[in-house]
Amino acid sequence: MKKNILDKEKMQKIVSFCKRKWIIFPASEIYWGFANTYTYWPYGVEIKNNIKNFWWKNFVQARRDIVWIDSPILLNPKTWEASGHATWFNDALTDCRDCKSRFRADHLIENQLEWVDPEGLPFEEMTKIIHKNSLKCEKCWSENLTDVRKFSWMFEMEMWKIWESEKIFLRPETAQWIFLEFKNVLDNTRQNFPFWIAQIWKSFRNEITPWNFTFRLLEFEQMEIEYFIEEKNWEEIFEKWQNDMKNFCKNIWLSEKNFRFFEHSKEKLSHYSKRTVDIEYNFPFWGFKELTWLAYRTDFDLSQHDKFSGQELKFRNSQTNEKFIPHVIEPSFGLDRAVLAVICEAYFEKEDWSVIFKLDPKIAPVKCAILPLIKKFTPKAEEIFDMLKMDFACELDEKWSIWRRYARQDEIWTPFCVTVDFDTLGEWDEPNDAYFGTVTVRNRDNWEQVRIKIKDLKGFLVDKIK
Ligand code: GAP
Repeated sequence: MKKNILDKEKMQKIVSFCKRKWIIFPASEIYWGFANTYTYWPYGVEIKNNIKNFWWKNFVQARRDIVWIDSPILLNPKTWEASGHATWFNDALTDCRDCKSRFRADHLIENQLEWVDPEGLPFEEMTKIIHKNSLKCEKCWSENLTDVRKFSWMFEMEMWKIWESEKIFLRPETAQWIFLEFKNVLDNTRQNFPFWIAQIWKSFRNEITPWNFTFRLLEFEQMEIEYFIEEKNWEEIFEKWQNDMKNFCKNIWLSEKNFRFFEHSKEKLSHYSKRTVDIEYNFPFWGFKELTWLAYRTDFDLSQHDKFSGQELKFRNSQTNEKFIPHVIEPSFGLDRAVLAVICEAYFEKEDWSVIFKLDPKIAPVKCAILPLIKKFTPKAEEIFDMLKMDFACELDEKWSIWRRYARQDEIWTPFCVTVDFDTLGEWDEPNDAYFGTVTVRNRDNWEQVRIKIKDLKGFLVDKIK
């Protein structure tokens, strides 16, 4: 059984750092916030985009047997009946009658009863455990808790037709749209079987547990792939994907000691899965928790949509004429959790309480800072900014002393700082011709400075960063 006790102080430090450094802010702050929603600020947007682009390059751009899509968030509500989400995608919740707080029953049991594993227990069983052991509300410590009830994880909405309304849902995973489009891709693209369909976009879940920062959001981005295969090949492909996912984590600079595989036990698999393995990351404030997941979804989803839609979702082998519903391997990455893991890994407090934030250069939000030594050199710095801005995320900073500006860039792990100084413009009484039209480039990792001609700067940075 997994027990994760939240260390609020450690989390608070990372939350404050993210605010101070323009990475992530709580959303709707002027209305005292809105639980489980956050806004990415400029550096957060860059970090997120860089991880997303790296995933895309790695898993989509680098393959020839893949189709990529960008689907609507709202799907025909029949989808959720067929997929089983309408029936099984629920939380067991209990309310405190005194302070009106609401809790996930499994979390309450897990937190207050060391020896009980609540995963997969029926609602009546959880109700009995809560009352028999006098479990308490975690806000006001009252024992006046309701019986456990079912709440859907899906957000429900109403869509008005001419005379009546219909219940529709915000999708809780991007995967279902991929299943709905399987036949279209088969019929209309020139993909050979087996093939992949990928997409990155938002999913929504009715998460009620607070104090999770961006780990458990109401809306979050998923980077999902469904691989349509023959049943006999699933084990080999599954193994290979475990390796690919592990390499991805290493390539965004998560250290191997901080992540591990977690195999879901047979009894606790989702209704559609025959095998599921998570990669868990060792988050500093609560220990190992799910970062990504890999599932063998069998032919469950396509069979269900075949049945509910009445459309044949089979692949026909042109050589043997055999028809079958493909099986599916699903690697699913949560983008927001990947950003959070990268932030946790990068954040390091020194003994003097100062913070080092060490990012992979391809993930770093700013690749090159251009710093005029004095304000008078700003026009030249602007020229350099214009020269580089379409190739790299750059920042021109002219405020405060050069040392404070270096320190500011170091804190967000900008790999290179370019300084426009007196030599660049030949501003000395006895200018050094050899240095005219050059800038100094300071490397973040070793603080070494080299002089480079402005015209060679782009080539230098391409070489070092790309
Ligand atoms: N299609 C499979 C699926 O949705 P999941 O484990 O429920 O499986 C996949 O979600 C990934 O999405 C997770 O590994 C996690 O990274 C991310 N994720 C799930 N719920 C989330 C939430 N409420 N907030 C942020 N990320 C979430």
